[in-house]
Amino acid sequence: MKIDILTLFPEMFAPLKSSILKRAEENGLLEFNIVNIRDFSKDKHKKCDDYPFGGGAGMLMTVQPLYDAIKSVKKDNSKIIFPSPRGRVFCQNVAKELSKFEHIIFVCGHYEGVDERVFQLFDIDEISIGDYVLTGGELPAMVIIDTLSRFVDGVIKRESLDCESFSNGLLEYPQYTRPSEFQGLKVPEVLLSGNHQEVEKWRNDESLKITKQKRADLME
Ligand code: ADE
Repeated sequence: MKIDILTLFPEMFAPLKSSILKRAEENGLLEFNIVNIRDFSKDKHKKCDDYPFGGGAGMLMTVQPLYDAIKSVKKDNSKIIFPSPRGRVFCQNVAKELSKFEHIIFVCGHYEGVDERVFQLFDIDEISIGDYVLTGGELPAMVIIDTLSRFVDGVIKRESLDCESFSNGLLEYPQYTRPSEFQGLKVPEVLLSGNHQEVEKWRNDESLKITKQKRADLME
């Protein structure tokens, strides 16, 4: 999958260069291309923001640099995503859906927003990562990229996806590793028993218990 990221703050995408996403790119499973929207500004000072018509607080990103930046990377099969608090709400199923695209373009807004005409000029999927407001679309884009990447074939082990929170509509059961006792706290006996059926039953019961306790809304 190729991911183009259009932003005024390319340095905010340093996390793509570490850990699992770095390895996925090295293995040719993902390709990230970061585009500085400012490079497309036709203003003589490379300005990319201006005051909103009608007045109001803060500055808006202007439409021309955004339009040209999108045009420079868009292909017929591109999916364009604009992280925004007014978008549909992101979740594991949306991540799975997005992981099927061959090419995604993230357009990151900043300041108080962007000129609305960009949404009239392109088919753009607005996605919110929750009911709160961040200073820009860069961190939400990172959250969405990180989450959808896990569903791209080969990025992580399939088994990891099968038994994690939300995979079966429930939260994940507790896990332990060595030592079997620490500060007087023992690992539950059943996990040391070697009885796979019993282990599975314990994990299912714990998943149900934790989900009821922490996220009863998921059980409805
Ligand atoms: N930009 C600012 N706040 C956001 C949010 N909650 N989700 C996505 N993009 C945003």
